[in-house]
Amino acid sequence: MNELKNDFPLLKNKDIAYLDSGATTQKPIQVINAVKEFYEKYNANPHRGAYSLSMEATEVYENTRDKIQKFINAKHREEIIFSKNATESLNLLAYSYGLDNLKENDSVVISIMEHHSNLVPWQKICKMTKSKLNYMYINDDFEIEDEEIEKKITDKTKIVGIAHVSNVLGTVNNIEKIIKIAHKKGAIVIIDASQSIPHMKIDVQKLDADFLVFSGHKMLAPLGIGVLYGKKELLKDMNPFLMGGDMIEYVHEQDTTYAPLPNKFEAGTQNVEGVIGLGAAIDYIENLGYEKIEEIEKELLGYAREKLSKLDYLTLYITPNEENHSGVISFNIKGVHPHDVSSILDSKGVCVRSGNHCAQPLMRYLGLDSTCRASFYFYNSKEDVDRLVDALQEAYNMFKKYIK
Ligand code: ALA
Repeated sequence: MNELKNDFPLLKNKDIAYLDSGATTQKPIQVINAVKEFYEKYNANPHRGAYSLSMEATEVYENTRDKIQKFINAKHREEIIFSKNATESLNLLAYSYGLDNLKENDSVVISIMEHHSNLVPWQKICKMTKSKLNYMYINDDFEIEDEEIEKKITDKTKIVGIAHVSNVLGTVNNIEKIIKIAHKKGAIVIIDASQSIPHMKIDVQKLDADFLVFSGHKMLAPLGIGVLYGKKELLKDMNPFLMGGDMIEYVHEQDTTYAPLPNKFEAGTQNVEGVIGLGAAIDYIENLGYEKIEEIEKELLGYAREKLSKLDYLTLYITPNEENHSGVISFNIKGVHPHDVSSILDSKGVCVRSGNHCAQPLMRYLGLDSTCRASFYFYNSKEDVDRLVDALQEAYNMFKKYIK
């Protein structure tokens, strides 16, 4: 039993092996209490009132921005923009940066393992600007080779979008190399850190990332809160994405001037409970420490890799290079549909995701329709892995007579 489970009411109250943290993590009591306290003690609309309650809400909201600045080591607090999730952050970038900076025959380079949220917006913007959408493909180890990065990022490339960690394969991409090459070619780089920041320390200055996005709900925070980090010199020249309250300076009948950063990108009443929950989630992660998180997860993932690779009826979609692997293991029982497998697992209290994981081009590239995916977080234990293995054995026993 992993003692950290005691901080998570749902995991304490339910007899399940929760192996779907890649989709959303469970929430610790500290986050739940922070949100509850907000509504009980200082709920008001930030930036909207001169009365003390609204000012208190503003203070907590803005303090969380400072906390995130430190958390990812951004240079300026106004480089942190709150959004709904990584998807909204990426759409903001596609429309506010891509649309204004791409022209005919420019290229946007992404990888074949992108989540639809870092793919579909670029398809749309590339069509609108007549620029090209090019892909970096993976090798048989489910990794992007250096030569592929060097071949695909060219003088025509203006934007590179890349998942730090694949939500299907768990491959940790060599973003340091991608950023270096892209900058040499004069392109900016957008890092989708949705599947990495829950597990590993991110330093945007050290990486020299131009933009970086993530969702709070995959790192202990409530649903519906996300972050966009961007270098100030880029953000300040960009047009706003959403228009409305709080993102303006002066509004006349026909024209509007916009508020300075970060408000320019935060139109309308914000998800304050989400921001406060995200602040509490960051406190939780920092108190536990990334070192500890990595230590627990390395052991857990190593154990899961070892146990699952012994099941010869399973196909695993993971890199053999353990040091390039984080968080998720996708697999199939040969000849059995993943939805059937996940239903059997569910009946044994094992929660895994099955489907295309919002990555249809990757599935097609791998010649698959879908997979099952177990995803791990520091609150999981070896018993959860054992439970998965036992449930898989039962599923296989049930289906083996039908497998051709
Ligand atoms: N993007 C989330 C996942 O991969 C929902 O499961």
